[in-house]
Amino acid sequence: MKVTVVGAGAVGASCAEYIAIKNFASEVVLVDIKEGYAEGKAMDLMQTASLNGFDTKITGATNDYSKTAGSDIAVITSGIPRKPGMTRDELIGINAGIVKTVSSSLIEHSPNVILIVVSNPMDTMTYLIHKTTGLAKNRIIGMGGALDSARFKYRLAEAMEAPISDVDGMVIGGHSDKGMVPLTSHATRNSIRVSEFLSPERLEQVAADTKVGGATLTGLLGTSAWYAPGAAVSALVQAIACDQKKMFPCSTFLEGEYGLNDICIGVPVILGKNGIEQIVDIPLSAAEKEKMQESAVGVSKTNDLLEL
Ligand code: 2OP
Repeated sequence: MKVTVVGAGAVGASCAEYIAIKNFASEVVLVDIKEGYAEGKAMDLMQTASLNGFDTKITGATNDYSKTAGSDIAVITSGIPRKPGMTRDELIGINAGIVKTVSSSLIEHSPNVILIVVSNPMDTMTYLIHKTTGLAKNRIIGMGGALDSARFKYRLAEAMEAPISDVDGMVIGGHSDKGMVPLTSHATRNSIRVSEFLSPERLEQVAADTKVGGATLTGLLGTSAWYAPGAAVSALVQAIACDQKKMFPCSTFLEGEYGLNDICIGVPVILGKNGIEQIVDIPLSAAEKEKMQESAVGVSKTNDLLEL
């Protein structure tokens, strides 16, 4: 199992590290445009192999996509990250050009690759790849909801003073501060609805904190977060690589599902060896349906900024 990670910055390197430590991939290739940077990160990570107990071979390449040939899965993290106060949409001008070039280079050397998109604005970058590469829609996956759901679970556990292993919850919709739809009606603590433990007001606060999870960290760190994004995308890679049939909220191209068309937005999907193997239609409350429609309007407005 060969995995390429484009972008050896904090998110890409964290993703490569988590994939290696999980030891399911034979090879991880890190690619970056900065001379020697990917090679350095790969060598540093390889020097943890004996300490972290993995056999995955991590290599680096400076803008040489021939080294990615035959990749089964490729993760695109390249592009500029947010600065404090920036929205993900403000990155579109620069990141659209990068993502378009990177995705075509990856496909040129790995025609059967499954692409996972992290670069922001992620839903629109995922849509861009659909519109410019012709890759089958099951092989283009946007990572946002897995990260947002992890932040949702963190906030729920914090509010209930519960161990995170007892908490389950999902965030669908656009990967944006205004577009996320935390499914508070479905969240549980060990199979019991969280509404048994939290007041409506407290649940609203949990949802609000979740939606600005990325911006909160950007404000604290001065740049976008990387540990949780890296971990979230490594979980998607593992689900595909190991054919786990796990359900995650991922950004995918919709053709009528959830009443939406010609858009990439976060919905529950089953991930396996073929990438997105099923889009799962779950019951939504009237309020959740309305929020999903509003979220789609926001994503479509960002898509309209693309020069396709
Ligand atoms: C985040 O929410 C980078 O969009 C990513 O942290």
